Amino acid sequence: MGKKVLAIYYSQSGQLRDIVGNLCLPFEETGYTVERLQIRLQNDYPFPWTSKGFFEVMPDCVLGKTAELAPFTLKETRYDLIILAYQAWFLSPSIPFNSLMHHPEIRAILKHTPVITVTGARNMWVNAFGKVKKLLSETGAHHVGTIAMIDRHLNLVSIFTIFHWMLGGKKDRWLGIFPRPGVSDPDIANAKALGATVVRHMESAQWDGMQAALLAQKGVALKYHLMFMESKAAVMFQLWAKWICSRKKRQVWLVAFKYYLLLALFLFAPIVYVIDRVFFKLFLSKHIKAKKESLLRLN
Ligand SMILES: Cc1cc2nc3c(=O)[nH]c(=O)nc-3n(C[C@H](O)[C@H](O)[C@H](O)COP(=O)(O)O)c2cc1C
Repeated sequence: MGKKVLAIYYSQSGQLRDIVGNLCLPFEETGYTVERLQIRLQNDYPFPWTSKGFFEVMPDCVLGKTAELAPFTLKETRYDLIILAYQAWFLSPSIPFNSLMHHPEIRAILKHTPVITVTGARNMWVNAFGKVKKLLSETGAHHVGTIAMIDRHLNLVSIFTIFHWMLGGKKDRWLGIFPRPGVSDPDIANAKALGATVVRHMESAQWDGMQAALLAQKGVALKYHLMFMESKAAVMFQLWAKWICSRKKRQVWLVAFKYYLLLALFLFAPIVYVIDRVFFKLFLSKHIKAKKESLLRLN
C-alpha cells in the first residue's frame, strides 16, 4: 500500500511553503500520498508587518503563549511520516507553530509517528529547535530527522534585509544593492534532493543514517559564532519577555526592547563575534564540535 505523508506548515511569505513543497516532490514522484496542510490563525498576523506589530509578538512568543488556530481537517488518522515545518520568531517557535503543537488533534496524530522537522530561518534557529524538540517529545513522536535552512549572508547584512522583507513584504534586493533576504533559491531547490534522501530511507524502512545523509547534503546550516550569540541572546529575551509582561506600560517597554535589540545586533554582536574568534574559536575546536553535535541531537 502507498505510504501516507502529512506536511504541516505555517508560512507568511511563502518561503517555508516552498521549502516544504520541494521536499515533498520526491514523495509524490514515488507514488506516496502527500497531504499538505497550511495552518492559519483565527486572527492571523498581517504580512507585511508593521514595526510595532513585529516587536509586539516577542513576549508571547518567547514565553510560549498560544493563539487560536483556524479550523482544519486531517484526511487520515495515521501517517507513515509527518513533516513539521516551523519558523523561529525571536529565537522561539513562532506563535502559530507553537499553537499547532498544543492542538489536541495534532498531538494525538504525532504519537508514535516518525517526524521530520524543517525550518527556514534568518540564521538563528537553534534555540527554537530546542523548544520544538521538547514539544515533540511530550507528544511521543519519533523524531527521525531535521532540516534547517538559513540566509547564508553575513549576519549584519541579513538584519537589514530581513527588516526590508518583513516590513515591506517583498523578498527582493533592498535599494538594488543588498542581497535578496531569506533562504536562497538554490537552497530552497535543494529541498527536493533532501526529500529524495528521506524517501530512500522510508523505502528501506531504516531511519538510521538519514540525519547524517541530510547533513552531508547541506540540509542543516549551523554556524558556530551565531550559535554562541544566540545562546546569550536567548537568556536576555527570556528576561525581557517576563519583564515586559509584568509591566503596566507594556508599549513603553516594547519600544525599549526594540532599541535594546538593535543595539545588541549592531554593537554587541560584532564585539562578541570578534572576541570569540580571537580568543575561543581557535582553541576550542573539539568543544565546538561536541556542542554542535549535542544541539543537533534529535531527542
Ligand atoms: C516576528 C518575527 C521574528 C523572527 N525572529 C527570527 C529569529 O529569531 N531567528 C531567525 O533566524 N529568524 C527569525 N525570523 C525569520 C523567520 O524565521 C522566517 O525566516 C521568516 O519569517 C520567513 O518565514 P515564512 O515562511 O513564515 O514567511 C523572524 C520573523 C518574524 C516575522
